Amino acid sequence: MDEQAHLHGSYWLHSAPPGDPEPPPEGPLTVDVAVVGAGIAGLSTAWEVARRGRSVAVLEADRIAAAVTGHTTAKLTAQHTLVYDRLRRTRGPEAARLYARSQTDAIHRAAEIADLLGVDCDWEDTAAYTYAEDPARADDLRAEAKAAREAGLAAEFVTETELRFPVAGAVRVADQAQFHPRKYLLAVADGIRRLGGTIHEHTRVTRLHEGEPCVLTARSPASETQVTARHVVVATHYPVFDRALLFTRLSPRRELVVAAPLDATDAPRGMYITPERNTRSLRTAPLGDGHRLLVVTGEHFTPGTGGDVEERFERLFGWATDHFGELTLTHRWATQDNESTDTVPLVGPLHPGTQNVHVATGFGGWGLSSGIMAGCLIAERIAGRPSPWSDLYDPRRIASVVREGAAFLKHQADVARHFVGDRLPTPSGPSVDDIAPGDGAVVRVSGERCAVHRDEDGKLHVLSARCTHLGCLVAFNRAERAWECPCHGSRFDVHGGVVQGPANDPLEPRDL
Ligand code: FES
Repeated sequence: MDEQAHLHGSYWLHSAPPGDPEPPPEGPLTVDVAVVGAGIAGLSTAWEVARRGRSVAVLEADRIAAAVTGHTTAKLTAQHTLVYDRLRRTRGPEAARLYARSQTDAIHRAAEIADLLGVDCDWEDTAAYTYAEDPARADDLRAEAKAAREAGLAAEFVTETELRFPVAGAVRVADQAQFHPRKYLLAVADGIRRLGGTIHEHTRVTRLHEGEPCVLTARSPASETQVTARHVVVATHYPVFDRALLFTRLSPRRELVVAAPLDATDAPRGMYITPERNTRSLRTAPLGDGHRLLVVTGEHFTPGTGGDVEERFERLFGWATDHFGELTLTHRWATQDNESTDTVPLVGPLHPGTQNVHVATGFGGWGLSSGIMAGCLIAERIAGRPSPWSDLYDPRRIASVVREGAAFLKHQADVARHFVGDRLPTPSGPSVDDIAPGDGAVVRVSGERCAVHRDEDGKLHVLSARCTHLGCLVAFNRAERAWECPCHGSRFDVHGGVVQGPANDPLEPRDL
């Protein structure tokens, strides 16, 4: 890890870089459907509604497929670690069957779209495995294999895999896939344009006036305009508009990714995940020249509470070398997931009082299949045809939230601890002089808590430490040079700019 100057960030962005940005709207727009957010959920929804003959505009605060979708592990699978045994117990066998069917349909839909668009997105049909090295977990895996099979997946319990290290057991699910998410989504974006849709980058939606039609305020660096739409889809990962307080049911989780080339003959072709050791998820991607890129994800933590994130990266890469031999790290990045308290995504009406504002969020670590599923589900809702799994994913569901009360209360307790704790006076804290170049800390300045970063040249950058979402205190992630909010996962760059919502406004600048 000593050659970080030569390290790349996300492999998906590095190997399929963005072109020229699509311009913000030049003036007021009127469309059937406005989609806020251009990740996999937003672009899939826009594609589906455009295919159904509706006019659509996609509004993206940054670049398309560059945020969460550009930093994924890129598995397209209906096997989501140990979800089926849990679903069977908490929501019944029919819910488990619908979950399996909806996620499998999404994989088939992605294959159809890739075919239709003629895109080479490194698509590979393969199997997905959830494995454990600890024999004490074998019974959990057997139960999951049984539940997944009963839910309709081609699942079996196995003790042999192609991995170089022994496993105590694994759930193997056949007929899954992996691909290059940006190659796929850049082609989907082209497809949306060819269908008459428009995509606007560097366009942040700051206000939503609900009605029939709805009116959005869209702000770009140079102007502000309005977008009028009969339907609005909020697909911003963590919803930036949230009248139903969905944020109380979402826990943000940051995960690290390291990648290194492997000789193709040694590289596993399946996709693997284990819940052990704070999660290890791996796959390989074609590199050419006799090599494949090993991509390993893990070491998750709540944003703003990761401690020494550099050490976490080292631990993750150390695990990769322990299990795959000597490796040269070429890429490392981090991703962020939102887990709903009952682990099932929230897709449907944004709140109980609306029929024309829709949301897609809470995908956990399974945003690719869930994002594509959400696109189909919302497009059908807009067409007036609820899909068979509308109720399963409906954000208005209450019964399962009650059943998952423990997870809900724990998340609320964690957030409340920050809300209250961040407002209490602290006996002492670091001073500005304690901050080393490249580091940052929350420091009390004239009675106010300020987020102070000292750059490599020694220059200080001073901001309010109050997150602009709901006012929790941010904390510095030195490895990623970002301020992170532990309450709902908003992230800001060292100049205060929003990197990740739900916050929509930058941290305010302060003077020392
Ligand atoms: Fe909600 Fe910061 S993200 S208070």
